Amino acid sequence: MSRSWVEAERAMVRRTRLRISALVALAITVLVAFVGGIAYTAMVHAQDAQVKRELRYNAQFGSPSVPPGCTWLFVLADGVIDDGLIPVPPGFPLHGDLDAARVSGQTIEREIERNGTEYLVLSQPSGAGRTVQTVFDKRYQLADRRHLLLALAVAEICGLLAAAVTGMGVGRGTVAPLAEALARQRRFVTDASHELRTPIARAYTRAQLLARRAAAAGLPVDHRAGLDKLANSIRGLGDVVDDLLLSARLNEQSAGPDGQAVDLAALAEAAVETEGERAGERRITLTVDRPAGPLVVTGVETALRRAVDELLANAVRHTPEGGRIDVRLRRDARGYVELTVADTGGGFDPVEADRLFDRFHRRPAGPDRSFGLGLALLREVVTRHGGTVEAISHPGRGARFTLRLPAADPGVVAGAGAEEVSTGFR
Ligand SMILES: Nc1ncnc2c1ncn2[C@@H]1O[C@H](COP(=O)(O)OP(=O)(O)OP(=O)(O)O)[C@@H](O)[C@H]1O
Ligand SMILES: [Mg+2]
Repeated sequence: MSRSWVEAERAMVRRTRLRISALVALAITVLVAFVGGIAYTAMVHAQDAQVKRELRYNAQFGSPSVPPGCTWLFVLADGVIDDGLIPVPPGFPLHGDLDAARVSGQTIEREIERNGTEYLVLSQPSGAGRTVQTVFDKRYQLADRRHLLLALAVAEICGLLAAAVTGMGVGRGTVAPLAEALARQRRFVTDASHELRTPIARAYTRAQLLARRAAAAGLPVDHRAGLDKLANSIRGLGDVVDDLLLSARLNEQSAGPDGQAVDLAALAEAAVETEGERAGERRITLTVDRPAGPLVVTGVETALRRAVDELLANAVRHTPEGGRIDVRLRRDARGYVELTVADTGGGFDPVEADRLFDRFHRRPAGPDRSFGLGLALLREVVTRHGGTVEAISHPGRGARFTLRLPAADPGVVAGAGAEEVSTGFR
């Protein structure tokens, strides 16, 4: 297994772990914030209600000399303040509030931060010319609130630890086997492709040898052409196997085209020639319309050949006897090489146009040997080459598939031929 796969799979496991941890952490944070927010609000509300109740009671029935815990009482009568002769916190009573309550006859309530704590101060007239001010020190209530916040913070930290452990556990238990299965699948593809290479190469050599001997022995032209085609088909098989090896070797993220110059026009012409025999058997007219010069794109020749072969094979499959398939190549104004395969078959339902490229999407009543994979693989190839593929249907009149691939820049075109794709079968 190549190093890049191992690294890519490790990175995938790491990314998935992180993502799962982050999601669990987010869920726990939201939960803690929600539950904590409700608990904190309820606590503050209950504490405030309790304190106010007590203050009002003490204002009515309390005595400045024996106030309840955390409370101080000041009674203003005839201009004199009675503080019960017990120690009071600095800054109290609030003379302004006592006077204002006396003058207005209204109750004044305020919260004050002082002496490192918070006080709730209630000033109100209490009959017989008296004005009472009750002061409550909220330090224990504030301490309770801090304890609640601390408990929530501890719960959040435990939650984050649980999130990290979950991420690691899920990574090990779920993602790692998945990565392992992917690795095994790739290993199978490379091993099987590699084992097939040698017998295919041998068959190719033999077919070439036979073709040469046939030429030397002066066999009829159609026999010799048949042997040439046989050799070409075996070479195509070898290309497919090489391509499988190549795509399995490449790291998925970096699996771009190899940067070889491919003349798409020549490639399409060769593909049409190969397909011509099958089309001829069904009396289908197959034409190619291309400009005089090459139309060069950058990419993997074998993969591009498979893409063009797939379009032609589909067109032949869906065109009735006596029909017509037109292959057209041109360079468009946006710098793309465009290849169109138009047939005169039954077409497909236009709403299906995008779904045709999904894996295993096939016409329900289609032929037995239809797997619905060809167009999905074609789209992968085209996307890897930075291109697009589009399907248009005229139901009952035919379908048209258009490939667009970025044209190679002039530097690559000039070097074309020098950097031939090496497949080992040519
Ligand atoms: N030229 C066409 N005309 C009409 N329908 C088409 C044409 N080409 C493809 N289709 C529709 O698209 C579907 C998917 O095509 P695709 O090439 O992915 O699979 P397939 O040809 O059915 O099977 P295979 O996996 O062997 O290629 C086909 O089943 C068919 O319904
Ligand atoms: Mg197909």
